[in-house]
Amino acid sequence: MTLLLYFLVHHILLCSAAPGQWSILLKTIGISAMHMQLLPNDRVIIFDRTDFGPSNISLPLGKCRSDPNDIALKRDCTAHSVEYDVSLNSIRPLMVLTDLWCSSGALGPDGSLVQTGGFNDGDHVVRVYKSCDKCDWKEINFGLLERRWYATSHILQDGRQIIIGGRRQYNYEFYPKRSKNVEVISLPFLVQTYDQGIENNLYPFVFLHTDGSLFIFANNRAILLDYLKNKVVKTYPEMPGGDPRNYPSTGSAVLLPMRIEQGVVEVVEVLVCGGAPKGAHINAKKGTFVDALDTCGRIKISDPNPKWVMERMPMGRVMGDMLLLPNGDVLVINGGSSGTAGWENGRNPVHKPVIYKPDNSIGSRFEVQNPSSIPRMYHSAAVLVRDGRVLVGGSNPHEQYNFTNVLYPTELSLEAFYPSYLDPSSSGLRPKILLSTTHIKYGKKIVMVHGLPPHLDMKIGLSDNGGTFFNTHSFSMNQRLLFLDRDNITKVRRKMGVMWWSVVAPPSSKCSPAGIISFPSAKISRRGRLDTR
Ligand SMILES: *[C@@H]1O[C@H](CO)[C@@H](O)[C@H](O)[C@H]1NC(C)=O
Ligand SMILES: *[C@@H]1O[C@H](CO)[C@@H](O)[C@H](O)[C@H]1NC(C)=O
Ligand SMILES: *[C@@H]1O[C@H](CO)[C@@H](O)[C@H](O)[C@H]1NC(C)=O
Repeated sequence: MTLLLYFLVHHILLCSAAPGQWSILLKTIGISAMHMQLLPNDRVIIFDRTDFGPSNISLPLGKCRSDPNDIALKRDCTAHSVEYDVSLNSIRPLMVLTDLWCSSGALGPDGSLVQTGGFNDGDHVVRVYKSCDKCDWKEINFGLLERRWYATSHILQDGRQIIIGGRRQYNYEFYPKRSKNVEVISLPFLVQTYDQGIENNLYPFVFLHTDGSLFIFANNRAILLDYLKNKVVKTYPEMPGGDPRNYPSTGSAVLLPMRIEQGVVEVVEVLVCGGAPKGAHINAKKGTFVDALDTCGRIKISDPNPKWVMERMPMGRVMGDMLLLPNGDVLVINGGSSGTAGWENGRNPVHKPVIYKPDNSIGSRFEVQNPSSIPRMYHSAAVLVRDGRVLVGGSNPHEQYNFTNVLYPTELSLEAFYPSYLDPSSSGLRPKILLSTTHIKYGKKIVMVHGLPPHLDMKIGLSDNGGTFFNTHSFSMNQRLLFLDRDNITKVRRKMGVMWWSVVAPPSSKCSPAGIISFPSAKISRRGRLDTR
């Protein structure tokens, strides 16, 4: 089965200044972090595109890539993909042969990244990356039946991934294929949500519901799809206001943290935030940058009669990223406050992240965080790493690596955001998982050992795929956090200053698809230590 185990203790914020800290980890990783995925071994795979011209990092061992189809360079001796080692704070260049620009992906059950699609010579390619000290990408030409560019991938209960949509693709397919027969299945919902000449439904927000169906949000509305029968089993109401939330009017979305109670997940909720008002993209192309949406819609997708509940963020945001923090809060980070996604169409970077606390009452859910100084516009990305930090990189709203003479220069830096639970004042409250059952079975006990006294208000969370997800274009595919049944948290014993606990794993693969287990090390790398400037 899954997952990343989180052990969380609530605490009260001690400082009065805005929460959250920032630190630059590396001034340059050589490429612009357009796509990021954390792997189970604490490496982050990062890539942009092969036809951006020369990057700022050479391929290893003097290698070069010759590609007659490349639209920028026929012979390129620079890398467009790197592996970042979280604990060493270092990068290693990788060789990718075909263009993986604006693609999708998911971590397979064995912990390798299965990346799907891209552009040009790479649009039908599947690339697999299994991390080790010397590993590199393996490419499977024609792994996909259709070209997939701006598609969304989601891991399924059987370990396959479904790849949904993409430019001019109103259908879905599976990788690996489910049968030998050609299997591209049409999805009229993607035609219905397509805005002529603008799109507004690319990179749809897709989540695996606990009944095994898929929630798919595109533009301003959603369906529940039984992908095995190709049947829409539920149609959700349009979000009030009717404004678009998907590329290029890019908002973001999360499946809110789920809770197992008495062995089941009763309530499954989705939160969609930000985006751009109707007409914003056409206006941006004409040089008028309309204010981004400051609204979020929240819906109980498990409800028999679901309704959107609208909320207002402290500020508008387009191209924001929404991440589930291990304490169950949602971080909204990156993006701009006017215009839309796509090249030079965004303006006014939003430097301040906000945190959304799903369990607070409406009106007291948002908390503004300390700002970063770096604009993170189109083609920026963010991922959570196992020590609880959020890595932020990228921003490249140009066809090439332009470092001067542009409004938002290509950004090669890698930064970390430290949510307030990493404040030094909380260090005594942060439990550290020392050991855990390594082969977890659905519905069975997990035993874990941690190094702190028990605390009354304790939650144990499991994050799918080792707490990892594929982040690009403001959406984190496969992001999922599940709090285990509190009734089943049992103290087993106390020995030599450490506590042994038992909890119960999620009931089925519908709640939590199979994956690799890992748990966060409390260690924060030396170079990545909280910078208290
Ligand atoms: C990367 O940028 C630095 C600083 O501008 C430069 O010295 C170096 O040669 C560049 N490396 C590559 C491979 O382009
Ligand atoms: C970006 O750089 C490329 C190559 O140097 C150049 O052709 C292009 O005009 C630049 N774009 C902008 C917006 O300056
Ligand atoms: C979990 O807790 C419930 C309620 O106390 C109990 O009925 C159930 O047997 C427990 N499950 C396991 C696997 O221990």
